[in-house]
Amino acid sequence: MKVEAHGRMVNGQTDLYALPADEEEHARLDTQHVMLQTALGGYLYPDPKRIEAALAPTPGRTTQILDVGSGAGVWTIQIAYQYPHAEVIGVDLVLPASDRPVPENCRFEADDVTLGMSHYHSAFDLVHCRAISHGVPDMEAFLDDIADTLRPGGVIVLVDGVMQLFREDKSLMDASESSFQKVLFHSYNALKSRGSGVDTCLLLQRMMEKNSKLKNLGYKEFFIPIGTWYDGDGTLEDRRRWHEMGELLRHDCHGFADALRPLLLGEGYKQEWVDEWIKEAHSELSENRVSGFMANTVVFIDLVVHRSVDGLYGCTSGPIERITKSPL
Ligand SMILES: C[S@@+](CC[C@H](N)C(=O)[O-])C[C@H]1O[C@@H](n2cnc3c(N)ncnc32)[C@H](O)[C@@H]1O
Repeated sequence: MKVEAHGRMVNGQTDLYALPADEEEHARLDTQHVMLQTALGGYLYPDPKRIEAALAPTPGRTTQILDVGSGAGVWTIQIAYQYPHAEVIGVDLVLPASDRPVPENCRFEADDVTLGMSHYHSAFDLVHCRAISHGVPDMEAFLDDIADTLRPGGVIVLVDGVMQLFREDKSLMDASESSFQKVLFHSYNALKSRGSGVDTCLLLQRMMEKNSKLKNLGYKEFFIPIGTWYDGDGTLEDRRRWHEMGELLRHDCHGFADALRPLLLGEGYKQEWVDEWIKEAHSELSENRVSGFMANTVVFIDLVVHRSVDGLYGCTSGPIERITKSPL
């Protein structure tokens, strides 16, 4: 179910996740997806060897993939096309648009994943979770629940972004330096005051390390420039790659500035201020004046597999079961 908020449609389940859930936002997520895929060298995940091993067909059972907070469903649908032998489930507060073509081995469920995922326990070979921290109040508890959804040999891939701009030397930008940073800064505070885990991106690595159910942590950090001000190592190829990602991110940021309007207005900021900040943020972005980076982290980790006399078993005591019904 969706509801209207300050001219945009948002999810009707929880106030914690305040970004829109409409066509405009889903188009922004599609652009962001292409940018992140480019950052991952064209793959849908980091560490291709590890993920491909986890998703290899296994005689006698179906490979299962869960995309948590699947949004527009772009990653979910692409992974389903890439692994036609797998069953892929995307779960989100809202379903993607019904006119998106979905392959037969892919389906979507509507649910608030912070209410518990025990119905998914010990089921998945890969759990992907990208940019969902806004909607999660307790990230450590959530990660623990996700760990339990893996079957032995399964892998979690978490991707998240920092909602702040960084200068060229990677220090944090001040809100006075950029109107777009001002929009991000006030939105960050608004999310924090709602109890959102928006600040957990940089803590994910440590949280995962602390969880005794998980092992073999892998970590990548990407600082992606906004626009075309950054040339990388200066070679034509590197310059082309950074400019391509920078342009995708610049496009994404235009949409992100608009997407944050309902949150800021809902938080009580005066409409004339909000509209002025967003208007100026659009001017900065259009004129390629934001010489900053946005940071994304990618964390991937395996389930610890305990070896017993009877064979292998994972962390949960229940039987491994196929997911056949919606949690609703
Ligand atoms: C920024 S979007 C990212 C979508 C997708 N993962 C991607 O990377 O394209 C975050 C998504 O997480 C979903 N989300 C946030 N909190 C959630 C929750 N508690 N339960 C289920 N989905 C949630 C939102 O509805 C939204 O679609």
